[in-house]
Amino acid sequence: MNNLLNKIKSNNYTKNDLIEALSLNSDEAVSLFSLSDKIRKDYCGEKVQIRGLLEISNICARNCNYCGVRANNDLVQRYKMPIEEIYSIALDMDKKGVKTLVMQGGESKTYNPFDLADLIREIKSNTDMAVTLSLGEHSFETYKLWKEAGANRYLLRHETANKEHYKYLHPDGVLDTRLECLRNLKKLGYQTGVGCMVGSPGQKTEYLAEDLEFIRDFKPEMVGIGPYVMHEHTPFKGEPNGDVFLTLKMLALVRIITKTALMPATTALATIGNEGYKKGLSVGCDVIMINFTPQKYKILYEIYPGKKCISENTDTILSTIKDLIISCNRQVSIDQGHARNIIKNQK
Ligand code: 5AD
Repeated sequence: MNNLLNKIKSNNYTKNDLIEALSLNSDEAVSLFSLSDKIRKDYCGEKVQIRGLLEISNICARNCNYCGVRANNDLVQRYKMPIEEIYSIALDMDKKGVKTLVMQGGESKTYNPFDLADLIREIKSNTDMAVTLSLGEHSFETYKLWKEAGANRYLLRHETANKEHYKYLHPDGVLDTRLECLRNLKKLGYQTGVGCMVGSPGQKTEYLAEDLEFIRDFKPEMVGIGPYVMHEHTPFKGEPNGDVFLTLKMLALVRIITKTALMPATTALATIGNEGYKKGLSVGCDVIMINFTPQKYKILYEIYPGKKCISENTDTILSTIKDLIISCNRQVSIDQGHARNIIKNQK
């Protein structure tokens, strides 16, 4: 056991070692979790970053088999937040001390990329916020436009590093294209986030080991990992949810392998896991995203059902999350929380 963890910690492991670590029982996993917590302490410190999430549109051209807002789900009422509304919420977040705006939306041509670039520029010049985008696959030129407008980070989960499994999850997607987008983002200087679900239909433990190897090799600045949550109005209707314990082992391994990656205790983990945020923070996570999407849109952004949402009132959500962080003996960060390896030369 200790031998196994030492191998992983010192970057001297095989795929089978990863599979073995992912298969630890709850007694054995105690030392995995204490190692990942120690590495988090040593490399990342006690601060937890708060990110403000805004789900700007649920219009999507893709048909990911797990996702509730997939293009073919006719039951979804689609929306696109007006640019001015996004801007005024960003100002409000900034005033409340939330120093990262995450703009997430379905993958589509809903917004004119130049309009989004103008919005990013306005936010960067009139607030003290970092801007993270999570808008799916786009051309190098579009990513460049947004980067030059001032965007700092981009989240694009790789979803699975296994080609066949990727196809099974995404009938209209190709893993190579996804990876090309990720390489482009890195090349352009974005702090880049990858990630996957745990327990997505068709997933084998071996594939999670491949995800970890991909994360090791790609060296992302951020890694988002949460359990799969079944949505009734998708082709994966009836498939079981992902396992919380396996998700925690995966998070712990990401912390041990990357040492410094920014890693959220995800909303999906909080949704199906009892005390999910706390558990995530205890195995190596150092970020929590708070949903600032206005209620009228939030209910329509149902990528999976029952999404953890502490309150409709963002002041209440903020103070609840801050209390939770403090109750875990951690500190609430008040800065932008840039990636640890490229803190210099970021506004
Ligand atoms: N369960 C859990 N996570 C999901 N995502 C999409 N649909 C689901 C689901 N049903 C995740 C994907 C995507 C991110 C925004 O949300 O990994 O990248």
